[in-house]
Amino acid sequence: MDFSSEHNSTRRDEIEFNQAHSQIQQEIESYLESTGQFSTEVPKISFEQGDIKFSFNVSSISMENLYEGIKIIKKHIVNLQVRDFDDGYIVFHDIGDLYSSDRKSFSQGIRFKFISVSSNSRIEVQRKGKLIQDEVQACLHLFQLFHKKNPETNPEKMLQKLGAEIFSPEEKRKPTENEIRISFKGFAGYSKVREEVLDSVILPLSKPEVFDQIAKATRGTSATNLPRAVLFEGPAGVGKTSMAKIIARETQIPLVCIAVENILSKYYGESAQNLANIFDAASLYERVILFIDEIDSLAVSREGGIYEATRRLLSVLLRKIDGIEQKKGLLTLGATNRTQDLDPALLSRFDTVIHFPLPSIPERNSIFRVYASHLSQQELLALAQASEELSGRNIEDICEYTERYWARKTIMEQKQISSPPGELYLEITKEMLPKSQKKY
Ligand SMILES: Nc1ncnc2c1ncn2[C@@H]1O[C@H](COP(=O)(O)OP(=O)(O)OP(=O)(O)O)[C@@H](O)[C@H]1O
Ligand SMILES: [Mg+2]
Repeated sequence: MDFSSEHNSTRRDEIEFNQAHSQIQQEIESYLESTGQFSTEVPKISFEQGDIKFSFNVSSISMENLYEGIKIIKKHIVNLQVRDFDDGYIVFHDIGDLYSSDRKSFSQGIRFKFISVSSNSRIEVQRKGKLIQDEVQACLHLFQLFHKKNPETNPEKMLQKLGAEIFSPEEKRKPTENEIRISFKGFAGYSKVREEVLDSVILPLSKPEVFDQIAKATRGTSATNLPRAVLFEGPAGVGKTSMAKIIARETQIPLVCIAVENILSKYYGESAQNLANIFDAASLYERVILFIDEIDSLAVSREGGIYEATRRLLSVLLRKIDGIEQKKGLLTLGATNRTQDLDPALLSRFDTVIHFPLPSIPERNSIFRVYASHLSQQELLALAQASEELSGRNIEDICEYTERYWARKTIMEQKQISSPPGELYLEITKEMLPKSQKKY
């Protein structure tokens, strides 16, 4: 028996390291993509001092997974032996054909390690020399076992679990093929803002093919010039969030709303992974708008002294709204009333920044008309003039408060039901004015 040849023997179908490496990488990438696990780390594959190593971290190794894992390995490797069996450290080892010269020594043959120590669980596969196809398959299937497709394929349910809120447009409002019906129903004034939203968000989302074809004709490239990220900025209560919902309604594209505050407090320490998961789950929709409200709370300028968790969140966000990782069909919409605090790197990612100012007199007039349509032109104008520096939200609050006050009065004084009078609105408006604005 020639022992030296045993050590140097080439097995049938051995694969060069580079080839095995790229096969494993490609198959894993396409597996992760097809199962919507865009943010999962791909395994490390290395070749050092004659050893090929394939390893990946897992959140934990359950008994069930260990058992399934052995079954997978057994399917591809015939003669397995348990080499080590300790708490949190189990190693299986290919001992080769028991009856032939191909029988391996302890240092040879592929080894599968299941390692589970307190904070770090991982699977490591190691082999001297080259891999054969069966071993490659064992590696791939082991990885897939620990990265099973999320049983939840409904993005809405996944997103809800992750703390996001979804506004799905109602099917029945869908405009016909050639019709783009733009109605900013319930949103008064702000003609400049509407125009900007129409041009830079609604039209590109409603008719992407027109934008694509023009880019192709002018630049000869299929690179899209559709907006990827748009920022709404302006003081509180001026309609930024409402506009995001209007866009969803008008374009018939689901709107996924995430409040950064929620992600931060709910999943402390895991915030960054959760944000990445939200982007991944949202990417399961063919087209989607991801609305990040109060984006400033995660993206405060680096100079302002930033917490580690926030910094990690920011870096995920930067990656996700960068060209490379951004999924086609996903528009990120951010809203803030503290643009000056935004990290410059984040700010620069937005294709368009739309400013929502406080409403002017004619705009306040129109907003009052939305919430108190029974008032005369003159009464509305008086209210608009008396409500300087108030926002749309303030106006809505004034009108609701006035209605409640009037209802109470109607009940207590057993009056006939009627609409509240203009003077009452005016009185309450003056009450609501910021202190410095009060004229009495
Ligand atoms: N132009 C407007 N016409 C009608 N209603 C408006 C207008 N602007 C704001 N509102 C109303 O005010 C309320 C608050 O608006 P919204 O929540 O969209 O403001 P925001 O800019 O997102 O505020 P914040 O910065 O505090 O999140 C909503 O109920 C909205 O309908
Ligand atoms: Mg808002």
